[in-house]
Amino acid sequence: MKYQLPKDFFLGAAMSGPQTEGAYNKDGRQRSIWDMWSDLSISDFYNKVGSYVGNNFYENYEEDIKLMKSLHLDSFRTSIQWTRLLDENGKINPLGAAFYHKVIACAKDNQMEPFMNLYHFDMPEALYLRGGWENREVVEAYANYARQAFREFGREIKYWFTFNEPIVEPDQRYRNGVWYPFIRDARRGLNVQYNISLAHCLGVEEFHRAKSKGFVRDDAKIGLINCFAPPYTRENPTPEDLEALRMEDGINNRWWLDLVTKGQLPEDVMNTLKDLGMTPDRRPGDETIFQLGKVDWLGFNYYHPSRIQAPREKTDEMGYPKFSDPYHWPEAKMNVYRGWEIYPKGIYDFGMKMKREYPDLKFFVSENGMGVEREGRFRDKNGQIQDDYRIQFVSQHLAWIAKAIEDGAQCLGYHYWGLIDNWSWSNAFKNRYGFIEVDLMDNYKRHFKKSASWFREVVDSKAIDTNIE
Ligand code: BG6
Repeated sequence: MKYQLPKDFFLGAAMSGPQTEGAYNKDGRQRSIWDMWSDLSISDFYNKVGSYVGNNFYENYEEDIKLMKSLHLDSFRTSIQWTRLLDENGKINPLGAAFYHKVIACAKDNQMEPFMNLYHFDMPEALYLRGGWENREVVEAYANYARQAFREFGREIKYWFTFNEPIVEPDQRYRNGVWYPFIRDARRGLNVQYNISLAHCLGVEEFHRAKSKGFVRDDAKIGLINCFAPPYTRENPTPEDLEALRMEDGINNRWWLDLVTKGQLPEDVMNTLKDLGMTPDRRPGDETIFQLGKVDWLGFNYYHPSRIQAPREKTDEMGYPKFSDPYHWPEAKMNVYRGWEIYPKGIYDFGMKMKREYPDLKFFVSENGMGVEREGRFRDKNGQIQDDYRIQFVSQHLAWIAKAIEDGAQCLGYHYWGLIDNWSWSNAFKNRYGFIEVDLMDNYKRHFKKSASWFREVVDSKAIDTNIE
């Protein structure tokens, strides 16, 4: 069956500074929390490939932008690395700034719109050592960073984002203890989430201030990007399952959606947290800061749904309240390399949720992609990776987007994650996402996979031929 995306629907790609640039110690870049972790324990990273490498975008950005252009993409998102733009005193590092000016100019020369994000899990080491997101001074430092970025690039960039996936650091670093500093403490996680929310709001305030002073162009927009995994529970749920759903959706999704549309955190969630003695560390005046957090539009990263049920135990190992347990849906189809469920309809369900609950907020799918291990297995006799699984994955997600738009979702575009294979945090280069392969054994050379030319055709026709129902 054929699905048609609107003619003005934009199609591009997403990446991030810390996962692509490499050049970790060049031209005055500060160290990040990732460099610190890599130095402390390199074995925590797949094949001992730490944060230093990226995919050589620092050296290769011109070729990469041309490759994107050759696939007819109209836009791409990357992030400024705080560690590259500013020095340890919070002042502009001229060499770091020069790099991003060059990237932006190159994008424009190739008729591509650069979308710029300010933070992608990459805290400077010096600020982490001062407490990171647990310290309000770091929230202030972020506001200074945002101010400097808006002033430096405000005349050049149209689409700005304060954060990518602000839920991830509270979860990965502080609640689930998966990433350095490996903390498993729900209260600290909540405080980090709360402080990042404040930082987002101060970032938005800086954006408006810079705009009113003429540093930022008049047509510029500010947004937030998050992974709003739609939560599902079992068929025939109990009231306890539904309660788990309310809190899961409340903390992961509505927290940010309410913040960016209403300028406040969801009342029911805050009331429950209060009843449980889990109110984050508030200060007088915070409510006024939250009111600054409204944005022009939203980025929705979608990889997988979240399936949950009522928790068996009411508290976790530290005695803090537990809101849900995972639920293993018997029909789930998995991406076994990443351990994520593949459920393309989730993208549609999110679109319908937005239409119902946040009808005034436009959004785009800011990340979606499929990471696969050992892709060398799929080379044809000419050496090209035949990634039909990826073509199927993207087709089905795009088809559900087309259907969501038809049914009234205000989804404006799509960025594929990881157009060019990149470094994936502690998984390093284990799972490859790209339409373009990076050969680590041959000086980061780029090669098209089968999906690349397929995607170019989709960009040109805005049509997808697949079955989803
Ligand atoms: C998103 C992030 O969560 O998913 C990216 O914004 C990340 O930074 C992507 O790379 C894919 O996840 P992973 O962990 O497989 O790299």
